[in-house]
Amino acid sequence: MNINSLISDDLEFIWHPCTQMKDMYDFPLMPIKRGKGVYLYDFNDNKYIDCISSWWVNLFGHSNDYINLKLKEQLDILEHVIFAGYTHEGIVRYSKRLISKLPDGLDKCFYADNGSSAIEIALKMSFHYHLLQGNKRNIFLSLENSYHGETIGALSIGDIGLYKNTYSDILISNITTKLPQDFSSTAIEIAICNLESIIMENENKICAFIVEPLIQCAGGMRIYSREFLSKAVSICKKYNICVIFDEIAVGFGRSGNMFALEECRVVPDFLCLSKGITGGYLPLSVVVTSNTIYDMFYGDYSRSFLHSHSYTGNPLSIACANATLDIFELENTIENNKILSNYIFSKFQELKNLNIVSDIRCKGMIFAFDLNIDFDRTISLKISQLGLKEGLIIRPLGNVVYFMPPYVINKDEVDFVIKALTNILYKLNM
Ligand SMILES: Cc1ncc(COP(=O)(O)O)c(C=O)c1O
Repeated sequence: MNINSLISDDLEFIWHPCTQMKDMYDFPLMPIKRGKGVYLYDFNDNKYIDCISSWWVNLFGHSNDYINLKLKEQLDILEHVIFAGYTHEGIVRYSKRLISKLPDGLDKCFYADNGSSAIEIALKMSFHYHLLQGNKRNIFLSLENSYHGETIGALSIGDIGLYKNTYSDILISNITTKLPQDFSSTAIEIAICNLESIIMENENKICAFIVEPLIQCAGGMRIYSREFLSKAVSICKKYNICVIFDEIAVGFGRSGNMFALEECRVVPDFLCLSKGITGGYLPLSVVVTSNTIYDMFYGDYSRSFLHSHSYTGNPLSIACANATLDIFELENTIENNKILSNYIFSKFQELKNLNIVSDIRCKGMIFAFDLNIDFDRTISLKISQLGLKEGLIIRPLGNVVYFMPPYVINKDEVDFVIKALTNILYKLNM
């Protein structure tokens, strides 16, 4: 394989996501040949630890033997079938298993094939749910600094100007409410007052409140208080505002529990899941909602939720999702991750001595710190390039460096990451 022609052909025929393609000349593309465990390998067989789980999707390592086996088995049985009017064994088994892991009130699964689509479904369903009761509520409520994806609806309720501002003329109505500045009761009170006053000013107009529970990932790995969230949820419920939990990034163990809602001890009206759902293998997402909401749509055809995607409930994706749940159950992943998380967080403390590093933080299997340097748009690309030289695949969010590894990372590999990060930060500070 000629790497140079691979890269030049890529640049001639492909437009990459979330990328200024002109940057690719100063910060060249990285061709990856294969993956195994926590490692991705280039065409010269150099290996790199995947510190970002390939955009937060991989849970049990690349080319996982068990998921490979289950996917190959499924290939010889059924690759795909339309999911309107037809069903298959894997998806029924998966839905039953998923619902059994969730609290009462999360009873029905509606499938799609990526995170943003799951958000669109929750937005449409919540709006439609109110409409079916004779109420037109067309404003959504979300948290400042939130991120929910990049389709028009998802972008509308997000609060990252970089992605959103260009499209402001074509977005749907959304109001953002304050995030508590810290964990103090005063900060929580201020944020709750803000939420209540928005609700009062827009009485009977707010359709749903959508949040990334406990940690805002794309917004810079910002951890916030559980108390705030449970208070906010009970206020919304009081005013008949639907609550949507976007656990697309944090579900399946990332937040420390299987689902972040367990720590919040509240039951949302909609739960959106994707990313880790297939262990990082194939696109899949699901919106789980209550029988109460489902029942509202049940009846004449005019009440139907007429939303679909061609690859909804794809059997290959579902085989990976079932295999992923098998591993959680067989290997006691959530308990093991607690020990692993403590170890990783303690190792991260070694970076404290570097004056460029501040606010080292951790939530479950998410680790992050801030860089005390002037913001520069290309800093993330520079760090990514330095990372490759040290054997790491990293991709900071502006000045926030984060580590979200596959759960199969071992202590030696963690030690390697800390040494490599130290070298990168020294070079950056020179
Ligand atoms: C919290 C959250 N919601 C939604 C999305 C969108 O998911 P997708 O990229 O699959 O559309 C993301 C993606 O990073 C996310 O982090």
